[in-house]
Amino acid sequence: MTPEFAAPNAAARPLWLVQGALPDGLDPAARAWAKANGFAGKPGQVCLLPGADGVIAGALVGVEAAAARPSRERFALAKAASALPEGAWQVVDWPEGVDRAEAALGWLLAQYAFGRYRKAEGAKARLVAPEGVDTARLLAMAEAEFLTRDLINTPANDMGPDALEAAARDMATRHGFAVNVIAGEDLLAQNFPLIHAVGRAGAQAPRLIELTRGTAGPQLALVGKGVCFDTGGLDIKPAAGMGLMKKDMGGAATVLGLAQMLAATGAADGIRLRVLIPAVENSISANAFRPGDILTSRKGLTVEINNTDAEGRLVLADALALAAEDRPDWLVSMATLTGAARVALGPDVPPFYCDDDAAAAAISEASRANWDPLWRMPFWEPYEEMIEPGIADLDNAPSGGMAGSITAALFLRRFAEGAGRYAHFDIYGWQPKPAPGRTKGGVQQGARALLGALPGLLK
Ligand code: BES
Ligand code: MN
Ligand code: ZN
Repeated sequence: MTPEFAAPNAAARPLWLVQGALPDGLDPAARAWAKANGFAGKPGQVCLLPGADGVIAGALVGVEAAAARPSRERFALAKAASALPEGAWQVVDWPEGVDRAEAALGWLLAQYAFGRYRKAEGAKARLVAPEGVDTARLLAMAEAEFLTRDLINTPANDMGPDALEAAARDMATRHGFAVNVIAGEDLLAQNFPLIHAVGRAGAQAPRLIELTRGTAGPQLALVGKGVCFDTGGLDIKPAAGMGLMKKDMGGAATVLGLAQMLAATGAADGIRLRVLIPAVENSISANAFRPGDILTSRKGLTVEINNTDAEGRLVLADALALAAEDRPDWLVSMATLTGAARVALGPDVPPFYCDDDAAAAAISEASRANWDPLWRMPFWEPYEEMIEPGIADLDNAPSGGMAGSITAALFLRRFAEGAGRYAHFDIYGWQPKPAPGRTKGGVQQGARALLGALPGLLK
């Protein structure tokens, strides 16, 4: 499904955005109707207006000023988009302080539904593109979000490493990326021992998927966790924890969406963009890696496996090491890495880590400006000792579990050394219950913030 605005020549019905008092231009009959229906202009409240001949002639929608946001909800018009009937709708007058781009993006996002296994439909109402917003950019954002959602929502039986590779190849073809894949025993021959160790028990071969675009300019490397299903391995997850683990390739789905947006908006022109996705299943079999194993990573650092369920940092370590060898100006990792991040900040606010204060501030600002919540957490140096077990260089799962998101980030940072700047995003990739513009299921986090921030950071 492709997000869209109303066709340019469509006959559109008027949509009145209301903040408190009803707008002056509204005729007396419509006013009386709104009153009789208890329409108070509360954010998200919708009131359909009847025409003389019994048709729907227009609608009223309560909206909040941008200054009041973020309040309970993001996406001022997303709820209305889902409530309004099919057809084209044109905002009569945008009140001062309502962010048109935010409202329009929310409307586009409400058009999403996951219809792969049974018919499903998102919002059918179409918004006439507001004046003064970059509609191509908003459409690129929505398209990328739909891609990320579809990849996450597709269960592991249809989104294993093979299918994730196919999806990456498809995006690459559409947006001018070259593709290189190293799979199976070649991972050992080419020195990706951790990706191989984690993925070798899977039904499909583990692999490292690489997409590249551009030959000159600053280099940006994006690394996304592509664990297509996370059973936890031999330290198996309890059923409650395993239920959602089709989404453990959320980092991969998000960097693919981000790379697509960078290409589609022109932000990838004049830079060298590289996407790396270690794609594996963390499964159980006779050849599975075990607790207590000590593995030597691509970088040469040895890692003691204290829990096979801390697999994400292992596959990312080899991919980050490869990326860092090329000394990119920016290295970014995105991963559904820890339960601890959820305990700390909940499903909506992914933590990110970045040592550069100015860059972190730019990312936070872009997060706010692009309606894509993030919160900075520290690479807390004194906790380094927690990931040092003694009989190997590193421990993949510090006992005690304190500061779980930070220690995972510190683990990754060891392998990102050599990059000019590094930022890591511990995302959730899942919307636990429906919200305006977001169906229950896969959701993209952090990508729009990075789309906003990266062009400036790469200068
Ligand atoms: N994929 C999980 C993390 C996860 C779980 C993210 C639930 C979102 C929701 C990851 O591979 C994992 O299992 N992490 C462990 C690490 C621990 C064993 C050190 C965790 O967070 O419990
Ligand atoms: Mn795990
Ligand atoms: Zn995992």
